Amino acid sequence: MSIGSTSAGATVGTVMSVSEGADDVTAGLVVRDTVAGYSTYLEAERLAGRSVGVVLTMGALHDGHGSLIRQAAAECDTVAVSVFVNPTQFGEVADLVGYPRTLEADLQLAHEAGASVVFAPSITEMYPGWPTTPTTTVTVRDLGRRWEGETRPGHFDGMATVVVKLLAASGRCRTYFGEKDFQQLAIVRRVVHDLNLPVEVVGCATVRESDGLAMSSRNVRLDADGRAAALCLSRALTGGVQALAAGAGRSDVERAMTEVVSGEPLATLGYAVLVYADDLEPADDLASDRPLRLLVAVTVGPVRLIDNLDPRGAM
Ligand code: PAJ
Repeated sequence: MSIGSTSAGATVGTVMSVSEGADDVTAGLVVRDTVAGYSTYLEAERLAGRSVGVVLTMGALHDGHGSLIRQAAAECDTVAVSVFVNPTQFGEVADLVGYPRTLEADLQLAHEAGASVVFAPSITEMYPGWPTTPTTTVTVRDLGRRWEGETRPGHFDGMATVVVKLLAASGRCRTYFGEKDFQQLAIVRRVVHDLNLPVEVVGCATVRESDGLAMSSRNVRLDADGRAAALCLSRALTGGVQALAAGAGRSDVERAMTEVVSGEPLATLGYAVLVYADDLEPADDLASDRPLRLLVAVTVGPVRLIDNLDPRGAM
């Protein structure tokens, strides 16, 4: 099979089966590139009595994505993975253009992790009329405006809109999102709740490299020095945990995290904060039993990186 044919050329009903070389590992994987073809496939699965798990991605799959797919495969009969680099959630054109695209390897990883169908639509399939943006979009107030939303205006509205489109195409399902993008996960939970989508959202633990760096499709854009500097994110989170364990209040916890990032000359701090895990508001009452989260965002060279941790779970 030529995987290249899947992104634009595959038609509704196409079943990719392969017989040669490295492609063997994707034998039997179903690839759909139209909303109608993808929806019909999953509807038939449900009619046959099979439960559906969905993992939404922008491709360049790594083991963090793999863990979501494996968890979905352990809990659902049929697992769908979407691969779509969503242009409406990118602020800077350079970030969109530079985003890695590795569909062939993505199909292999998805298949090996337990996916039975991959949905890989074109931009015009998702946004007919593109580059004109859709009239109807999803806006998330408050939760969508803070932290990442402050520096990336429109990012979460673009993300929420494409997630609703992809979940609508998927139909009733469980959907698996990584805690790595903690604010995104909180927003998706809120959107699903507010819009009554027939979807159960499952949050999955962050997968890290052995030295603590959270896996991200953006990590490949770090050079060797940047890769070393990026460790300041996980070190900052550890500093925050230690400060909290020593009895510090919110501002001292945040100062401890900020100092770690300031000590790294190649890194520029976005934010380092202690928030409540549900609404992501600053956590001023540490005597309450509300779950907490440390959030950190840093720019290393051209690459923006985020990470987070449950500080009480790490004590
Ligand atoms: P993407 O960055 O490809 O991430 C897809 C999913 O993988 C998200 O749920 C993300 O949180 C999860 N993920 C990424 N790195 C992870 C890691 N190290 N450990 C665990 N999970 C990880 O997030 C998006 O795409 C897009 O915004 C999307 C939701 C697909 C909408 O376009």
